[in-house]
Amino acid sequence: MVLSAPCRVATGEAATTSGATSSVGGRGFRTSVRRRAGRCPHAFVRRLRFARSGTTGASRLPPRGECAYILRVDQVETLIRFSNVKKRFGPKVIYSGLDLSIRRGEAFTILGGSGVGKSVMLKMLIGLLTADSGSITFDGQEITKMGERELSRVRQRIAMLFQSGALFDSLSVFENVAYGLEEHFREKMSRSEMEDRVAWALGLVGLPGIEEMRPSDLSGGMRKRVGLARAIAVQPEVVLYDEPTTGLDPINTARVNHMIVGLQEKLSITSIVVTHDMGSAFAISDRMAMVHSGRIIACGDVESIKESDDDRVYNFIHGKAPVEEDVETLLRSG
Ligand SMILES: Nc1ncnc2c1ncn2[C@@H]1O[C@H](COP(=O)(O)OP(=O)(O)OP(=O)(O)O)[C@@H](O)[C@H]1O
Ligand SMILES: [Mg+2]
Repeated sequence: MVLSAPCRVATGEAATTSGATSSVGGRGFRTSVRRRAGRCPHAFVRRLRFARSGTTGASRLPPRGECAYILRVDQVETLIRFSNVKKRFGPKVIYSGLDLSIRRGEAFTILGGSGVGKSVMLKMLIGLLTADSGSITFDGQEITKMGERELSRVRQRIAMLFQSGALFDSLSVFENVAYGLEEHFREKMSRSEMEDRVAWALGLVGLPGIEEMRPSDLSGGMRKRVGLARAIAVQPEVVLYDEPTTGLDPINTARVNHMIVGLQEKLSITSIVVTHDMGSAFAISDRMAMVHSGRIIACGDVESIKESDDDRVYNFIHGKAPVEEDVETLLRSG
């Protein structure tokens, strides 16, 4: 079912779409969206996703400025799928049956306590760690069966912002941001093209002109943003953000969140974000999932997670320790 079918709106043109109504799975939904002059319909698509996450999807969006788009409510394309994935390190079981699907173009947040395996999940997706069994597909291709050469091609399409930032202190900012370009495009890109791409990526993260600086000269927030510039420099389809706001002050946290949403909307990037920061999670997510005891115990849009009646989800999102961990009980058991 085409909800808004092919519709062309030039950037700068004012347009209003209101009361678009559709019925999916027997339940109608109604959304009213006003686009102001200069706003591109990516925002419209995003709001529709919020309006009825789980039933709306957008075909791959054109770049900003060419705002022709087709919005379909019955075509939700799964881009990444984990099916019955098992992973252990020695006797320690990390995943006993991981099932998860992530759609093209969405901002998906992975929640879960420390050590449950969130980073391991991201690393399995790009082949830095191998699953013991099960299937992981990206765009229909089986990751678990790939060799290094194919994985390298996948890592060009899926970039990762590592939890630690993982900048090389001995390299300049330019060399850090150009790192992935050297790896994937050495033969295809000239030096000046590389310089342009690095400048573009640093500009996007709001840090133009710092190519010659060293990571050690940067604040924590700047380091995160340089890490992000490195991830997006290869112009990936998917960015994996492993705790992008941990350790940042509220202003830098807001900046990074703004950037994640902006990149998703401007470049149609699928975002997978691991975070403990519930404010950020609620601000940026289309959908969320929570990992617990080797499995996904909840998955859905922001509202459904907020309203979950699972104690483990409730305690996590409200920062509450389980009842059995209250101080008196702990003192008694000690
Ligand atoms: N390469 C590895 N070898 C052995 N154990 C590992 C390896 N990588 C991760 N682990 C273990 O797997 C478990 C899950 O690790 P992971 O880094 O995914 O946790 P996490 O959910 O990301 O936690 P945090 O929120 O603290 O970052 C941990 O117990 C960790 O020690
Ligand atoms: Mg981690």
